[in-house]
Amino acid sequence: MFEVFVADAVSEDVKSFLKKSKDVQVAEEYLQWHLALNDNDQLCLSHIEEKKLKPLALDFVSARSLHKMRSLQRSKQPLIKALGRPEQGRVYDLTAGFGGDLLLMLSAGFHVTAVESNPLVYLLLSDAVNRLKFAAESEAETIGFPKRVTDAISKLQVVHADSVTLVEAGMNRATGAVYLDPMFEAKKGGRLSQGPMQWMQRLVSHSEEGVESLVRAALSTKGFRVVIKRGLKADRFDGPFQHAFAGSSVRYDMYLTS
Ligand SMILES: C[S@@+](CC[C@H](N)C(=O)[O-])C[C@H]1O[C@@H](n2cnc3c(N)ncnc32)[C@H](O)[C@@H]1O
Repeated sequence: MFEVFVADAVSEDVKSFLKKSKDVQVAEEYLQWHLALNDNDQLCLSHIEEKKLKPLALDFVSARSLHKMRSLQRSKQPLIKALGRPEQGRVYDLTAGFGGDLLLMLSAGFHVTAVESNPLVYLLLSDAVNRLKFAAESEAETIGFPKRVTDAISKLQVVHADSVTLVEAGMNRATGAVYLDPMFEAKKGGRLSQGPMQWMQRLVSHSEEGVESLVRAALSTKGFRVVIKRGLKADRFDGPFQHAFAGSSVRYDMYLTS
């Protein structure tokens, strides 16, 4: 349960979403998590005990993100190779997180449904997506995205849900690709994560059972291309495996369900 103190300036939509969330308790004072707007009107998360961590806001229209999206060499990205071609159908990013992989998919022109179960991660992601959508619509010429990227941004859906429930409720009526990048256990003595991943580790904990049920649900779909991100040396899951697309530090295993 997240105890969240919400600043007055935060929108009524965000406040009512938090009040309805079963994983959040809206607090009267700042004792744990704090949601506010920063100087750029971005929704911004901080934690009372994490003074060394910069408050977190996601920004997909920063010069850095825009440069990344414009300069991507799509043909060289293992994730994009694993997902196939945008004409083959929508991608269901079932573990959307802070949207790093999502931006890559949009730059390659994929139409995406991004699903995130953590209420705070979902709020930060949808705030950044709303600003990206607005910029792609109202400043299209300045931003200079090709049409396929602007189209992909306008068709992007962000959903707050448990992906396992969503798949079980009838994804079998859809077609396309499913993408999974679940939280894996941090290596003991491994390097500490940097930037937004430090926040991710405080917001979402690894659960072996959670990963297993996500993989089981994804592989139970019919006629989907299922892509699962793994460590380079990690074992493969049982299933209709076709091919592994390796990058420098991770691997994308591709399965075809029937
Ligand atoms: C490693 S992060 C994903 C990072 C993301 N690919 C990126 O590039 O930013 C995993 C995310 O999956 C979410 N998640 C885990 N289980 C989920 C489920 N059953 N349904 C929806 N989201 C889930 C977690 O809350 C977390 O935000």
